[in-house]
This record gives sequence, C-alpha cells and structure tokens, in this order.
Amino acid sequence: MQTVITPEIKNLLNRAQQAAETAYAPYSHFQVGAALLLADGSVSCGCNVENASYGATVCAERVAVFAAVAAGKLSPAQSPQMLTVTALPCALCLQVLAEFAKPDMPIWIVGKQGVNGGQPQHFLLKDLLPHAFKL
Ligand code: THU
Repeated sequence: MQTVITPEIKNLLNRAQQAAETAYAPYSHFQVGAALLLADGSVSCGCNVENASYGATVCAERVAVFAAVAAGKLSPAQSPQMLTVTALPCALCLQVLAEFAKPDMPIWIVGKQGVNGGQPQHFLLKDLLPHAFKL
C-alpha cells in the first residue's frame, strides 16, 4: 500500500477539500468533498447534495461516482485508481464504489477541519468494506 503522500495524492486530497466548498448542506451543515482518480488519469469530483426530504440527500462519494459513469469514464472495466474524501465514507457509498473499484483501491481521508490532527489517513476499500454485497 502507498503510505507516503506523493504530490499526486496531495493534489487529489486538495481536490476533495475544494469540492467540499461547493457542498449543498443546509440541514446538517456538514460539507463533504470527494475526488475520484479515474482509470484514464482524469478526476471526478463530488460534494454532498442535501434535500428537504432528507432521504433524497446524496453523499459526495456517490456524486463523484455517478458523474464519472455519466461521463462514460467509469465502469467495472475502467476501475478507478484512488479516492480521496473529507469524511469516512458511509457503507452505502462503499457498496457503490465496490461496484466499480477493485478491493485494493486506496482511499485517503483528509478532514476538512483538521480531523486526525490534519494528518491524512489511508485505507483500502476492502478495509472499510470487507464483505461487499454481490449478486
Ligand atoms: N455524507 C457524505 O457526503 N458522505 C459520507 O460518506 C457520509 C455522509 C454527507 C451526507 C449528509 O449530507 C451529511 O454528510 C451528514 O450526514
């Protein structure tokens, strides 16, 4: 596992933090940003988008995934290389990621407001979701 924060990882962490700035979170006031490094080297960003009907809220990670699928750049055959996100991904988002990503995809977490002393934490997708649902 890559545990050193390379310039590429640092850049992707910055992209997630920038994406959090555009979050629409008037209910929770908890802004989240995600940046997904795609197979072709491009980056798909997402932020959480809340709704007055709370269950209609979509997390930042899924916005990034769905935007990449809609752009024709993400599929099981075009697995993403890495995810950075400003909060620990929820299980629903991990399941959505597992549809397209390999179990050993790195996930870097960087708190928006200096969570973990501002020190990014890294995991693999399979660390956070060891038993993804499969049909
Ligand atoms: N949220 C995300 O965007 N990603 C996660 O993985 C966890 C939760 C959002 C959803 C909601 O807008 C806010 O954080 C509070 O739950």
